[in-house]
Amino acid sequence: MERSGFSSKVGFIAAAAGSAVGLGNIWKFPFEVGESGGAAFVIVYLAFCLILCFPLMVAEIAIGRKAQRNPVGAFVALGYGKWSIVGKLGILSCVLILSFYNVVAGWCFGYFVEILLGNFSIGEQFPVFVKDIIKVGSYSILFMATTAYIVSRGISGGIEKAAKILMPVLFTIILVLAGYAMTLPGASKATQFYLFPDFSKITGEVVYNALGHAFFSLSLGMGAMITYGSYVGKKDNIISSAVAITLLDVGIAFMAGLMLFPMVISQGLDAHGGAGLVFMSLPGVFGNMGPVMGLVVGILFFLLLSFAALTSTVSILEIPVSYLVDEKEMKRPRAVWLVAAGIFVLGIPSLLSNGYSGFFTKFITYFGASDPTDFMTFISDVASNSFLPLNGFLIALFVAFVWKKENLFEEVSNGNKRFANTLIANFLGFSIKYLCPWILGIVFVLNVLDTFFGLTLFG
Ligand code: TRP
Repeated sequence: MERSGFSSKVGFIAAAAGSAVGLGNIWKFPFEVGESGGAAFVIVYLAFCLILCFPLMVAEIAIGRKAQRNPVGAFVALGYGKWSIVGKLGILSCVLILSFYNVVAGWCFGYFVEILLGNFSIGEQFPVFVKDIIKVGSYSILFMATTAYIVSRGISGGIEKAAKILMPVLFTIILVLAGYAMTLPGASKATQFYLFPDFSKITGEVVYNALGHAFFSLSLGMGAMITYGSYVGKKDNIISSAVAITLLDVGIAFMAGLMLFPMVISQGLDAHGGAGLVFMSLPGVFGNMGPVMGLVVGILFFLLLSFAALTSTVSILEIPVSYLVDEKEMKRPRAVWLVAAGIFVLGIPSLLSNGYSGFFTKFITYFGASDPTDFMTFISDVASNSFLPLNGFLIALFVAFVWKKENLFEEVSNGNKRFANTLIANFLGFSIKYLCPWILGIVFVLNVLDTFFGLTLFG
């Protein structure tokens, strides 16, 4: 059977960049920067994106395109069935990640509606808002249903089409907002914090947080790029596509910082605001911009966040769906609605874990920690901070020592005839073999020790 796919290279880049650009870029990146010493974190993050993540992205896309299969079937199709466990771990991660990611995406959309109604005090009401289960539950269902609808329409007619509309809008909004932020009174002070590194702030923890973030942000480690890669045309140039995707992702995260810090600092708020920066501090900031300006900027901002989240939830949902369609021969719409409903149900404890249910709010206390961690943070620690680097490590091992550089290069050379002896090829070969597996392996171990056992090495 002819496998459906992206109709063009631009369509693939839009969809994959849509996957990469998400809450990670606009919500998480600025507060990680705020907590980890500003520009020093940014530099480490950029270095990881280029040195480790870009080569891995090329590898994931090449595996997918060569195999023409979902992440589980891909390893079988390449002749290494035992390694399909890596694909299975990827699918497990994506189910867990989507279960809580969708809850936060629902908040974003909810905030869009609240600001549209002129409710700028929603920031102060955040603790009450997240406990209003009917409300946040409905937003979360709505978000999952929209995601499912797009995925059910297939690759070129659904995922690609949505990305081609949403990504240009998203890009325009962020340009406008960052441009506006630059005109605010505190802009130069804010930009200094953001752009001038204080290297004394770089600890071991900052380094592996930066890597974890780079990884999550580029949608690596759970087979998202294997899946999208399996829909890429044989004549397309994987290298230039991966360059475009990486640059778009990094560029948008960077602009998110340029947009957020001046807004926050211009009103005398602390840039180290943590996770609450966006949901608790920003609405008030918008409110103080004056009725019209505040409304426009606030609406645009939460629309931006919702769009960014949507193209990411779409890519995460597509992974288990492609598995069921390829391997279990399920019809796409049926697979989509089944998985979406299942993941929504799995996300209910996350929905309840922000104050509504005492049990899920104080779910678990890690070794050496004094306070309990809520369910949502726990799932995020397990799936995004542990499974993703572990899976990335395994994918890198697979490419370096099992599938081997020659096969990777052969696949990449389709659509890029002169690839083999270029500088990029040498760099890729080196990174995949000598950098990716080891650094990812170490980061995985350090992260697990730090998060769950409170043991910070090199702290
Ligand atoms: N990259 C997205 C973000 O930054 C999240 C995401 C989408 C993701 N697909 C993924 C993370 C696959 C890991 C793997 O928000």
